[in-house]
Amino acid sequence: METLRVDLGERSYPIHIGEGILSLAGEFLQQAGLRGKVAVVTNPTVAQLYLDPLHEVLTRSGFAVTPILLPEGEEHKDLKSLSVIYDRLIGERFERKSSILALGGGVIGDLAGFAAATYLRGVPYVQVPTTLLAQVDSSVGGKTGVNHHEGKNLIGAFYQPKLVLIDIAVLNTLPRRELVAGLAEVIKYGIIDDPALFGLLEKEMQKIIGLDRELLARIIATSCAIKARVVEKDEREEEYRAVLNFGHTVGHALEAVTGYTGFLHGEAVGVGMVKAAAISMQQGFCDEKDFARVRKLVEKAGLPVGIPSDVRMQDLIQSMEVDKKSGGGKIKFVICAGIGKTRFHWLTPGEILGALGA
Ligand code: NAD
Ligand code: GLY
Repeated sequence: METLRVDLGERSYPIHIGEGILSLAGEFLQQAGLRGKVAVVTNPTVAQLYLDPLHEVLTRSGFAVTPILLPEGEEHKDLKSLSVIYDRLIGERFERKSSILALGGGVIGDLAGFAAATYLRGVPYVQVPTTLLAQVDSSVGGKTGVNHHEGKNLIGAFYQPKLVLIDIAVLNTLPRRELVAGLAEVIKYGIIDDPALFGLLEKEMQKIIGLDRELLARIIATSCAIKARVVEKDEREEEYRAVLNFGHTVGHALEAVTGYTGFLHGEAVGVGMVKAAAISMQQGFCDEKDFARVRKLVEKAGLPVGIPSDVRMQDLIQSMEVDKKSGGGKIKFVICAGIGKTRFHWLTPGEILGALGA
């Protein structure tokens, strides 16, 4: 087992990573100072796989468990699901010292985290991420929230968990498409910060997709460590934390114009990273070799690399312009300045359009 730490003063917390550590959840929650009532927020798919054993270990450690099952899917990351959580917490008389545990992917983590940030003006919560994406990205860093029909993640709060528990064994049941989507974020960490991670992915991608335990533990720990360092520098995304959005400007736009049904988030980020690398090359920040490596690795993971022919480039640009990261007619882009290095650069829609076909 490996333990990392997110260092944020009084909001610091550990990330425990290991195989089978769900069975130690009771002890870890106690160590984090949690007692009494705990609401386990999850969905039917994840509940069927992991709720009973978790319920049992928590009960054995003296916790009074209230399972809260929410409907599955991104379309339910909304205020209605949030109300379901609040209703149960109020119904079960949850107090300031009671806690919430998110058992699931990023949808559950964001919902449970936001409920924790707002119920009684804040109760402690624990992230138990069960998708690769949630293990390497959404469970760490304290971004919580829900969608509004006008856009994704428009309602939310920065609110750090007390503890993140990453059990690699749960990836055994994750559909391959979801696993691969999570790999997009791991590739992203290599591009923005870590040439050695990028090289490891180039060398071992097939073994990783085959769920090699040691490699999974290594890439998850490395990803979490990179994310932790970024969050420590800029918890509330004043500026630097936006490096985590590499590939996300085009990715988000692609998700939006395809009605959030064409691509999983990680798949859209795969395309977005290839396009961001192409733009970086065209603007002279990285060379053709870097671009080719990014494209090849995204492809090797089994992620898409191109924009579907029925997507209109103008629609994509328009979607980027209304994205919250844009301003003053130009769009703020995270540029690849060679594998492991990034910088910000403002680009006109024309400059972006030029690279989208690459
Ligand atoms: P998800 O939560 O929808 O999970 C994907 C699917 O996998 C679901 O159907 C789920 O039921 C299933 N599943 C989860 N764990 C499983 C397991 N172990 N075995 C079998 N099936 C399992 O998707 P996601 O990709 O984890 O998260 C996407 C969400 O995360 C989006 O809402 C996005 O906005 C959010 N997000 C948040 C942050 C952040 O910093 N807070 C960062 C990135 C993404
Ligand atoms: N997923 C981007 C962030 O946490 O900032």
